[in-house]
Amino acid sequence: MAEKSGSPYQELLPGLVTVQQHIIANQRRHAEATGEFSFLLSGITIATKVLASKVRKAGLVDIFGATGEQNVQGETVQKLDRMANDLLMHCIGYRRSVGALASEENETVVDLTETGRTGKYLVLFDPLDGSSNIDVNIPTGTIFSILVRPERGEWQQGGDVHTEILQPGLKQVAAGYVLYSSATTLVYTTGNGVHQFVLDPEIGAYVLVAERLQVPARKKVYSVNEANSGTFPKEVQDYLAWTKTEAAGYSSRYVGSFVADFHRILMQGGLFLYPPTAKAPSGKLRLMYEANPMAFLIEQAGGAALDGPQRILEKTPKKLHERTPLYIGSKGEVAILQAFLQGKGAPPA
Ligand code: AHG
Ligand code: MN
Ligand code: MN
Repeated sequence: MAEKSGSPYQELLPGLVTVQQHIIANQRRHAEATGEFSFLLSGITIATKVLASKVRKAGLVDIFGATGEQNVQGETVQKLDRMANDLLMHCIGYRRSVGALASEENETVVDLTETGRTGKYLVLFDPLDGSSNIDVNIPTGTIFSILVRPERGEWQQGGDVHTEILQPGLKQVAAGYVLYSSATTLVYTTGNGVHQFVLDPEIGAYVLVAERLQVPARKKVYSVNEANSGTFPKEVQDYLAWTKTEAAGYSSRYVGSFVADFHRILMQGGLFLYPPTAKAPSGKLRLMYEANPMAFLIEQAGGAALDGPQRILEKTPKKLHERTPLYIGSKGEVAILQAFLQGKGAPPA
């Protein structure tokens, strides 16, 4: 379990470690970390607790349906997309340690330094992932990624957050997600392992349930929208044909909410694929606030994440909302797919 808070009243909360306690205990191990980071993360936990309460009452409160707007992605904005975005912008933007925010729902970076802020953190998020599933009560999620502005010296010469934010995923200082499902679970990493919490609705706290999660190296389950397979690269079509052979013996699971499909893979192993398609030639998922945070998590849990030839975390983004092909999951499963992509075909039986 995480380092005890050392409080003499620990017996009042036998074995209960909240995400705030965990972050502070974690930070004690990193002398340079300051309380401002845990305060920043508390902005995310507050917003997602409010969101969890809305999602649980979907149908009773007016959050079904679309707002009638289209976002920068050309996608219809669901009411809950808008609410999630406003909540996160408010709760995180309130933290003085934040210099800028970026969201799937906002065309450009929200530059808080314009108000004279010198906050060093750059927070990116997909406020509601899988939003097409809200109205049919299928799990949805929130994904976040945290970068830091380049050395303070550059800021004082008026660094531009719009360019500073375009950093490869390797530079993330933290990443995580909240999955709104049968339970509301928060999973995060600060580069020191992957840790999981479940929201206890009775006390309104995210409570630690697992530390240093490790994804199984192999699991014969693939997760892909097969309807698009007609225009997948030939090597991916060959991989999918192989998985259906008796010798390979794979099963298929696809929720259609990336956070839900990812969480299943983190827990049990498998491979998630969103390859290039005719409709989405660079893949559908966005690099900065879907692929990068999940790639950070999966690598911290012993898995792998590629765009095909390249490690996701090494990609240098050119645009805030750029999309990327994504193959992510168990190390052994990614390796098998990679062999197909390299033209080496199926593993020996
Ligand atoms: P978002 O709701 O944030 O736009 O993300 C939706 C994504 C992702 O959650 C999921 O894996 C993917 O869309 C499903 O796409 P298809 O419907 O094309 O399979
Ligand atoms: Mn998404
Ligand atoms: Mn979204």
